[in-house]
This record gives sequence, structure tokens and C-alpha cells, in this order.
Amino acid sequence: MPSTVEASAPETAIAQPAKPARPKKVRHVEPAPPATDPAAFRAIVEGRRSVRKFTKDPVPDEVLNDCIDLAILAPNSSNLQPWEFVVVKSPELRAKLAVACMDQNAAKTAPILLVQIGRTKTWGENAQRILDEWHEPEIPSQVQTYYSKLVQFHFMTGPLNALGIAKRIMQKVVTRLRPLPHSHYNHADIKTWAAKSCALACENFMLAARAHGYDTCPMEGFDENHVRQLIPMADDAFVVMIIAMGKRADNGVYYPRQRFSRERMVREL
Ligand SMILES: Cc1cc2nc3c(=O)[nH]c(=O)nc-3n(C[C@H](O)[C@H](O)[C@H](O)COP(=O)(O)O)c2cc1C
Repeated sequence: MPSTVEASAPETAIAQPAKPARPKKVRHVEPAPPATDPAAFRAIVEGRRSVRKFTKDPVPDEVLNDCIDLAILAPNSSNLQPWEFVVVKSPELRAKLAVACMDQNAAKTAPILLVQIGRTKTWGENAQRILDEWHEPEIPSQVQTYYSKLVQFHFMTGPLNALGIAKRIMQKVVTRLRPLPHSHYNHADIKTWAAKSCALACENFMLAARAHGYDTCPMEGFDENHVRQLIPMADDAFVVMIIAMGKRADNGVYYPRQRFSRERMVREL
């Protein structure tokens, strides 16, 4: 028995060409990997100390490269990867860099100094690169919109910061009515934004080094202008940390670890 709708359709109706079937969306599926070894991870985290004296043992290239590979797997804001890693091995340059690091023992003795650089103006080209290097020919529309429009909106601050100020005013008004995601209103905001992701990469690097049996010392005790004279870098680049890396000398850790009590720092609501 035909349905009412079908029955009432005029017999002379011209058949519409069938719409091409939409290709089925293939969702990326990546199940959680099995738990590995929390005790081994704890040993790495607990074993990492800031080491201020290193032996003369070199760091093998494969170890260094693995640590850098793991550093760049760090989570980073919008996947815009605002970082660069400069490996300094040459004894002459290390010696000069150690002076820029206020002659700290860690910098003077480490066979490797890693200058970790944050970038405040690569967000545009990196957003485009995400789209260019997307893993399949068809880019989901949300991804396309995010990287081609929203990122621009969040990062643009305009000449004399005019757009940043306008965005700030708009944010203050709109946020009374509904939550708004954090945007960037000036250069300092973008610098903070980059530094957050860079710091996570630094931590990955240092834990990876420990996993390989090497040690590190993150340093912000350096003169940035002096570092810039030694390490060529773009105008929008800034030095987040310099990480000394090598084999820990027996007297390389100056004091036992000190952390404030958990109760002081952790709240549960
Ligand atoms: C951003 C940052 C900057 C640091 N700068 C220096 C530094 O210039 N010189 C130094 O000897 N240690 C530096 N440290 C290491 C800290 O002093 C050290 O992490 C802290 O005392 C805790 O000790 P631990 O790393 O052994 O647990 C820095 C650490 C961080 C995270």
C-alpha cells in the first residue's frame, strides 16, 4: 500500500536527479594505549634533578636527537608549535654562551647547551602549514575555519595594538553574558602563550634525557641580549630557557630536593 504522500504525488512530476551521496565521514580512531610502567615513569620524574656540574662525557647524537624528538611531541597550544631548539656543541660557542649564562657551572661544564626559543609571529605560517600538511585531502570544515579565520582573529593585534584594544573591550562586554575563550590582546599575551608550550617541550626534553641516563639544568639566568649576539634568531624570537645537558658529576646536585607540602599547594573542590 503506497503511503499518502506517495499517492498524492502527481504522476507527471519530473524525476529530480538524485543528489550525489555525501562521502561517509571517516572518524579518526586512536584507542588509549595500554598503561606502560608508572613506577618507571616515577623513577624518571623523581630522578630528574637540576644538575650544576657535568662530567666531560659527551652526549651521543642518537640520545640528543631522541630527546629533541620527544620534546616536540609536547602538547602545545592549537598545535601551532611556536618553538625552536638550537643545539650548541662547539666548545668555543659554549664557552661564550656560558659567559652569557652568568658563568653558571651548569653552563660551563655541560657538553651540550640547548637554547630553547619561543616564537611570537610564526602562528600565521604554522596555521597555514597545518592546513597544507593535513593528513588527508579533505580538511574538515571546522579545522579549515579554525586555522584560516579564528587563529587570525585571536592573534591579530593590529597597528599600535588597536585591534588588541578593541578585542579587549569587546571581550569585557561579551564575557558578562557568556564565557569567551582567551584571546591575545598584546605582544606580551602572545609571548606568554608561546612560553607555556615551550616550557612543556623543555620538560619533555629533560625527562627524556633522564630516561636515557643523562641530566639537565634548565636556566633562565642568562642575559638575553648577549645570547642574541651569539645565536642568530629572528626578531620575534625570544629565549625561553637554556638547558644544560650531560652526564651528572657525583657532586652535580647541590642540595637535597625541597618541595612544599602537598596540602599547601593542592585544593580539591
Ligand atoms: C624556568 C626555570 C629557570 C631556571 N633557571 C635556573 C638557572 O638559571 N640556574 C640554575 O642553576 N637553575 C635554574 N633552574 C632550576 C631550578 O633552580 C630548580 O628546578 C629548582 O631549584 C628545583 O630543583 P630540581 O630541579 O632539582 O627539582 C631553573 C628552573 C626553571 C624551571
